[in-house]
Amino acid sequence: MRNGTTLLLLAAVAMLSAACLTTREALAAPAQEVVDYNVSPTRIIFPVGEKPNSAGVGMRPTVFNHLVHEKKIDNCLSCHHTGETKACTTCHTMEGKAEGNFITLTKAMHTPVVAKRPKGEPTPQSCVSCHQQQLAQRECAGCHSIVSVAHATRKTSYCAPCHNMTPSITKAQMQQGSAGVLPDKDKVALAAETMSAQKSVSHLTPEDGPYKVYIGEIADKFESNLFAHRRHVESIMEKLKDNKLAQAFHTQPETLCATCHHNAPLSATPPKCGSCHKSTIDPNQPERTSLKAAYHLQCMSCHRAMQVARPIDTSCVTCHKPRAPQRTD
Ligand code: HEC
Ligand code: HEC
Ligand code: HEC
Ligand code: HEC
Ligand code: HEC
Ligand code: HEC
Ligand code: HEC
Ligand code: HEC
Ligand code: HEC
Repeated sequence: MRNGTTLLLLAAVAMLSAACLTTREALAAPAQEVVDYNVSPTRIIFPVGEKPNSAGVGMRPTVFNHLVHEKKIDNCLSCHHTGETKACTTCHTMEGKAEGNFITLTKAMHTPVVAKRPKGEPTPQSCVSCHQQQLAQRECAGCHSIVSVAHATRKTSYCAPCHNMTPSITKAQMQQGSAGVLPDKDKVALAAETMSAQKSVSHLTPEDGPYKVYIGEIADKFESNLFAHRRHVESIMEKLKDNKLAQAFHTQPETLCATCHHNAPLSATPPKCGSCHKSTIDPNQPERTSLKAAYHLQCMSCHRAMQVARPIDTSCVTCHKPRAPQRTD
């Protein structure tokens, strides 16, 4: 009940604030045509704080597509966790302030795991914590059980989809934005320019890889493994077509190939697993996963995470055909 009341309150606040900020029709207009900042479907989030933040120091500000999010997340409270649709920067600033329990802006946006709240209370969501939760969906979980997030987060390609502000922003505009006094028309123009400069990547397709691959380097007890390469890539990529989060964060044409073909330069003709993983443990690299374990772990982690019905890990024969018995005479 408490939740329902808060929701109603929230709707009322949203409607009252600044003369109907978010009527859906207004939000539905494309960014470039919107003149009134208050009804723009995109929002710029500046690193608002006490000290002036000069351009060139720190990250580029974020142009956040409110409309895309609002369409997918049906509860405003997931993000506007206090029940008011105020800008996050009224409470979360670079230095942090009492209204935001001294949680800094950077933390409010990046915190990867936010503690669960008692029943009924909305849990605040940072940009990063919610995006991480999205990866638990079946269509994402397979690959994301084998790519390491910690690894991805160190790369600048991971920061760019959020820190996307057009480079044409001037130092003066940057300082005004951080002080919270940039005129609305400048915000609209910068947001529109940023949105129209965005390009989507075209990924390599299943046809850019082989149709089937014989994996037989260590075949000894069993026949070599006939791996349905194209069918795998096809059925995995098929599920990503309509997901804007996946599109924005899979930034390179080869990103999806590099899930399995990892740790090597991006390429349509990646090196064989055996060029790094050896069939016997190399004493100079005792921590390196053996070739057999490398195959098994990669195949099976993904199958498990995607709840693939067949093959189950223990059903050796689905992947392995027994060798014909050797003649001894
Ligand atoms: C999911 C979106 C998202 C991702 C990914 C992300 N950030 Fe942020 N970050 C934000 C938002 C939103 C803010 C607050 C507004 C702003 O300053 O742009 C912010 C603020 C910051 C700030 C403080 C403000 C400033 O300009 O100094 C730093 C530093 C920062 N991010 C660094 C990074 C780095 C480094 C990465 C990549 C490893 C990264 N961020 C990835 C959303 C993101
Ligand atoms: C995915 C997270 C998310 C969801 C869901 C969401 N918002 Fe927002 N909203 C934001 C962020 C982030 C901002 C920009 C805050 C800033 O500028 O610091 C914002 C800004 C706003 C603002 C402008 C606040 C101001 O004073 O500048 C309003 C009004 C608003 N949202 C209303 C809503 C309503 C109504 C809903 C539900 C239909 C909703 N939002 C759903 C994240 C969200
Ligand atoms: C009216 C002030 C206020 C506004 C506006 C506000 N917050 Fe908060 N936020 C707080 C307070 C207070 C806390 C600490 C209490 C709590 O966790 O509920 C907090 C906590 C958080 C946390 C938890 C961080 C952690 O590590 O536990 C996140 C994430 C967060 N806010 C994100 C946001 C985002 C995103 C917005 C804008 C869409 C926003 N907040 C708007 C006051 C505010
Ligand atoms: C409550 C969950 C949630 C929160 C919080 C959230 N996102 Fe997202 N985000 C999503 C989902 C879901 C999508 C995919 C939407 C779709 O496919 O239509 C998405 C898509 C995106 C995209 C790609 C689409 C686009 O806008 O171009 C970017 C960039 C992005 N989010 C940035 C952010 C930033 C910056 C913040 C914080 C200010 C944030 N998100 C907060 C759930 C969230
Ligand atoms: C074919 C494998 C594959 C699938 C399926 C996949 N991803 Fe990814 N994803 C990757 C790889 C590889 C990276 C790391 C990219 C890098 O290192 O630059 C990545 C990185 C990301 C990131 C940024 C890093 C992070 O952990 O936050 C996001 C967000 C993301 N993917 C979203 C999604 C979403 C949402 C889905 C499901 C709709 C999905 N991905 C499905 C391979 C995949
Ligand atoms: C689901 C994991 C997976 C994905 C995704 C994937 N591959 Fe592969 N690929 C493999 C495996 C396993 C092999 C066999 C490697 C070995 O035995 O050394 C392979 C082999 C190859 C080979 C060598 C073929 C041969 O006969 O020597 C090429 C070329 C290749 N992949 C290209 C690609 C391209 C291009 C993409 C992206 C469009 C891609 N792969 C995506 C798992 C994958
Ligand atoms: C360019 C070198 C290189 C290639 C090629 C390569 N790997 Fe790896 N792989 C590594 C490194 C480095 C690690 C991290 C150290 C370790 O666990 O061995 C690793 C780790 C792994 C792990 C363990 C991951 C974990 O979290 O425990 C698996 C599984 C794996 N690789 C499978 C494969 C498969 C399957 C292929 C071929 C499709 C492949 N690798 C190709 C370098 C490579
Ligand atoms: C990134 C995720 C992923 C990885 C890695 C992966 N698989 Fe799969 N696999 C799937 C999915 C999804 C299906 C179900 C495909 C479908 O129904 O089209 C599947 C189905 C299969 C099947 C049954 C369907 C068929 O083609 O006969 C076999 C056998 C199989 N995989 C073998 C392997 C082997 C061997 C490896 C490792 C070299 C591997 N897979 C690695 C996702 C993966
Ligand atoms: C998802 C498919 C898959 C399943 C299930 C699977 N394996 Fe494998 N296994 C592979 C792949 C791929 C290789 C590498 C193939 C090669 O080089 O011949 C491999 C290699 C091996 C090898 C080394 C090669 C050889 O011929 O000696 C042994 C032994 C092995 N597996 C045993 C097993 C056993 C026992 C099970 C059941 C508990 C099992 N595997 C289940 C995919 C699988």
